[in-house]
Amino acid sequence: MKLRSIELALSDPSAAAAFMVEIWGMALAEERGGTFYLRGSGSYPYLIAFDKSDHEFVRSTTFVCEEAELAEVKRRVSAAGWPARPEVSDDIGGGEGILVELPEGELLRFLVGSGEVRTIEGDDLPVRLTHVVFNSVDAEATGLAVEQVLGFHVSDRTKGMVFVRCNDSHHSIAFARAGIASLNHIAFEMSCIDSVMRGIGRLRDHGLAPSWGPGRHGPGANVFAYFIAPFGPVFEFSTAVEKVSENYKVGTPEDWTWPENRIDQWGMSDKDLVGLRAAEERFRFVRTWDVQPIDN
Ligand SMILES: [Fe+2]
Repeated sequence: MKLRSIELALSDPSAAAAFMVEIWGMALAEERGGTFYLRGSGSYPYLIAFDKSDHEFVRSTTFVCEEAELAEVKRRVSAAGWPARPEVSDDIGGGEGILVELPEGELLRFLVGSGEVRTIEGDDLPVRLTHVVFNSVDAEATGLAVEQVLGFHVSDRTKGMVFVRCNDSHHSIAFARAGIASLNHIAFEMSCIDSVMRGIGRLRDHGLAPSWGPGRHGPGANVFAYFIAPFGPVFEFSTAVEKVSENYKVGTPEDWTWPENRIDQWGMSDKDLVGLRAAEERFRFVRTWDVQPIDN
């Protein structure tokens, strides 16, 4: 199963798309029906989509999978009585599957038959999304729930986060122990460290400094640089997240304690905790139960 894309509802999707193309460094895949689809260099038709709404929120986070994986998710979701509904995608990739609501209101889509496109070359285009992190009221419970119901696996637990994988990448999602349910950040995978660094330079050229980074994380060992986008969400340039095997030993918070004055492997950057937290509070999740349990 692979993390493919995230879909955001925004007050000004056109301005957001312009930022992503002109400054963040993506390609406009298509504008269709007022929705802007932005792509990277990889084979997914888009990585992030923006549509217009008076109320800004995360519409969904989308995974692509095989028929058998979808059937298994449907079976487990149905058995657990989780809210979910059949989904026929109207995005530019198409496909169908289900939309599942997690216990704190995050909506995940699982699609089969979603199309892929020819890869493209470009100056430091992101390749794909590498992870999406959600803030949670109870990250531990949510992590356990996605293991039991979605068949995902917790890779590591730290004092701040529960890291979850759905393939051999160390994490595709994570849940931050934040006391609120909201979007924490969206991470774009760059092809190499130079590409991350040039991305930082490009944003600096436009007056945007990293809110945290550059640095290298503990769990996942990926290089990172976080920015608060002008339209709200926190984005990350990332690269080289660790690949793990099925028998990866799940780390505990005690395994991941930092020496004093360190919150990453390099220790070269400050973290704007206040600014990041304010940005994270904009995109809240609310348990809607808009979607009802399905019979499988
Ligand atoms: Fe991240």
